[in-house]
Amino acid sequence: MLCVNVELKERRYPIYIGENLLKNPAVYPLKSGDKVMIVTNETIAPLYLSTVTATLESLGCQVSSVQLKDGEKYKTLDSLNDIFTALLRENHGRDTTLIALGGGVIGDVAGYAAASYQRGIKFIQIPTTLLSQVDSSVGGKTAVNHELGKNMIGAFYQPITVIIDTTTLNTLPKREVNAGLAEVIKYGAILDLPFFEWLEQHIDELVALEQSPLQYCIARCCQIKADVVARDETEKGDRALLNLGHTFGHAIETHLGYGNWLHGEAVAAGSMMAAALSEMLGDLSKNDVGRLEKLLARANLPTVSPDTMQPEDYLPHMMRDKKVLAGKLRLVLLKSLGQAYVATDTDKSLVLDAIRACTQFD
Ligand SMILES: NC(=O)c1ccc[n+]([C@@H]2O[C@H](COP(=O)([O-])OP(=O)(O)OC[C@H]3O[C@@H](n4cnc5c(N)ncnc54)[C@H](O)[C@@H]3O)[C@@H](O)[C@H]2O)c1
Ligand SMILES: [Zn+2]
Repeated sequence: MLCVNVELKERRYPIYIGENLLKNPAVYPLKSGDKVMIVTNETIAPLYLSTVTATLESLGCQVSSVQLKDGEKYKTLDSLNDIFTALLRENHGRDTTLIALGGGVIGDVAGYAAASYQRGIKFIQIPTTLLSQVDSSVGGKTAVNHELGKNMIGAFYQPITVIIDTTTLNTLPKREVNAGLAEVIKYGAILDLPFFEWLEQHIDELVALEQSPLQYCIARCCQIKADVVARDETEKGDRALLNLGHTFGHAIETHLGYGNWLHGEAVAAGSMMAAALSEMLGDLSKNDVGRLEKLLARANLPTVSPDTMQPEDYLPHMMRDKKVLAGKLRLVLLKSLGQAYVATDTDKSLVLDAIRACTQFD
C-alpha cells in the first residue's frame, strides 16, 4: 500500500492507494459506535456496497446508505436533497461521517452534502474511477450542476481520508479507464518530465491495469495534484495549470453535447491543440508534440478534433470559459514537456490555426 499526504495549513489528510483496500479496516479513520452514511449509485452499489458495509460493520460502525441514479445528469440539487432527506430521516447528527463511494459525480455531490449538512460533517472519499482517483478526489472541490451551468453550486471542502482501492478499476469500462489516462498524461506534460518519460515506458501496462505500475502512477498523480493544491488551495494561481487542454476540451464537450465524448477524451484532443499552439509560438519542439501525440494514442485516446466539429466552432465556446478575463483568452500552454504556463491574450487567429492543425480534413 502507498500513502500520499495532502498538506494543507490547518488540515492534513492521507490518501491510501492499494489493492483490496475496501476490505481493509485499517485505512478507515472510524471506530466502534461511529455513525456513517455511504453515498453511492445504482451501478456501483451492487459491485462494492456490501464489501464496504461489511468492513465498517466489522469496526463496529452503524452503517446506512443512500443510492443515487447513475450519471452526470443526476449531479443536481435534487440528488443533494435526497442525501439530506436520508440523513434527517435517520436522525444523523453532526458526528456522522459521510462516505462517497463512486466516481467523480458521487464524490462531488456527496462532498457538497458533507460540506453543508448541519454546517459540515466529516467526509471520506472512496473514488472508483481512474479519473476520480487521480483528479477529483484530490483538492477538495465539491459541487452540483445547475441547469444554467456545470458545477455552479459548490464549496471547497476537504475529506479526512481518501481510500483508493485500485482493484475497483477492474470493473470500470475500458473507455472510462482510458479517459482517466488523459488526466494522468496531463500531469506529466504540465509539471513533471521524468513522470512523462516513465509513462512512455509504462503506458501499455497502465492500459492493461497492471497493479504495481498502476498504484505507482496513481500515487504520483495524487502527489502532483496535492502539491499544487497545497500551494494554491482556492485556485488563484498555480492550480490553473491543471487545466491543460481543458478550454479546448470543454468546447468539444459543449458542442457535441455532454456525454458524447467523455471528458478525458475531449481533454486529450484539447491537449494536442494546446501543444500545437505551443509549437507555433516557438516553445515546444515538433518532436515533443509527436511524443505527446504518441502517448495519448497508445492510451487509445483521440488526438484530433471530432470530425463533426469545424475549427470555427471552438472560439465562441472558448470565450465563455471561466478563465476568460476582460474578453481575453487565458490558455494553459507548454514551454516544454513538463513545464506549463498560463498564456494571456493569445492571438485568436493563432488559436484557430492550432485547432486546424488538429483537424482531420477528408
Ligand atoms: N472535484 C473536482 O476537482 C473534479 C475534477 C475533475 C472532475 N470532476 C467531476 O467528476 C465527474 C466525472 O467523474 P467520473 O469520470 O469519475 O465519472 P462518473 O462518476 O460519472 O463515473 C463514470 C461511470 O463509471 C461508473 N463507475 C464508477 N466506478 C465504477 C467501477 N469501479 N466499476 C464500474 N463502473 C463504475 C459510474 O457509475 C459511471 O457510470 C464530473 O462531474 C466532473 O465535473 C470533479
Ligand atoms: Zn479534467
